[in-house]
Amino acid sequence: MSIDQLQDIAQAMVAPGKGIIAIDESTTTCKKRFDGVGVECTEENRRAYREMLLSTPSLGEHVSGAILYDETLRQAQKDGTSFVKLMEKQGILPGIKVDKGTSPLAGFPGELVTEGLDGLRDRLKEYARIGAKFAKWRAVITIGEDSPSGTCIEANCHALARYAALCQEQGIVPMVEPEVLMDGDHDIDVCYDVTEATLRSLFGALYEQNVMLEGTILKASMVISGKTCSEQASVEEVAEYTLRCLKSAVPASLPGIVFLSGGQSDEAATAHLNAMNQMGNNPWPLSFSYGRAMQQAALKLWAQDMQANYAAAQRTVAQRAKDNGLAALGKWSR
Ligand code: 13P
Repeated sequence: MSIDQLQDIAQAMVAPGKGIIAIDESTTTCKKRFDGVGVECTEENRRAYREMLLSTPSLGEHVSGAILYDETLRQAQKDGTSFVKLMEKQGILPGIKVDKGTSPLAGFPGELVTEGLDGLRDRLKEYARIGAKFAKWRAVITIGEDSPSGTCIEANCHALARYAALCQEQGIVPMVEPEVLMDGDHDIDVCYDVTEATLRSLFGALYEQNVMLEGTILKASMVISGKTCSEQASVEEVAEYTLRCLKSAVPASLPGIVFLSGGQSDEAATAHLNAMNQMGNNPWPLSFSYGRAMQQAALKLWAQDMQANYAAAQRTVAQRAKDNGLAALGKWSR
């Protein structure tokens, strides 16, 4: 596949007023979410839940793509239509999470490195055959007393760049996600410094591995106060810090940046994105790639009564998509 084709996919992912829904929870993470609402984490329940989300009427109006998990990419609707076909009908690009999760980084207690490069070329070949147009790899950077170390940032960014190069080789757009966790009592300035150092390291590594930025999407965490910090930054501060950080570290040739929600409330995730787009004059489209901030309200409803609340849960997802789509244009209001 040519760079033009990768670029077309990347641009479609961040088309005006559209973003991504992340439904790529591994079975372990899905169990955590299902446990929280009293649903048994069986394969059929996972399938039925994802069918409910993906078949939401007109989801494609504000959602350009969905990130799936290996199991989900192979699943189908009750009537036998594959999820990939369903997504094509909805005008939603199929994406796939390809990392294998995090492991403790040896020699650096408390720090994590994402695994999954072994055999990745063959897995990507298969995912492309099934219909995946983009992929996702998430690195986790933890802020602590003495962390993150430079080694942790470097190891994770090296892996992200190796993954991204392999994706492009197979005609798949890499979404690179270095998530700086919100956990901790650090203030927004610390988050700024860690996020900036991580992004600089990432774009250095992508350059070293010959990754074409024109066919790459960044999935970023916002620059935000630690969850337990006594002083919480305002919506305007989060937007201003995040934009300043991105402008200092992310090349303008990138087709777009999408954000993770990372444990923010639905409203905060939308308000922050909206504020960044209202500030305007940004080198890239800024949109969403939310997991929890797209799903959590719908999951609660669906879990209460899978049949009776089916349509209401879908309306809730559609509303979240609409609100975040408006925020991607800076046109959302409470
Ligand atoms: P959250 O929006 O729930 O953080 O999930 C996004 C995601 O894909 C994390 O990897």
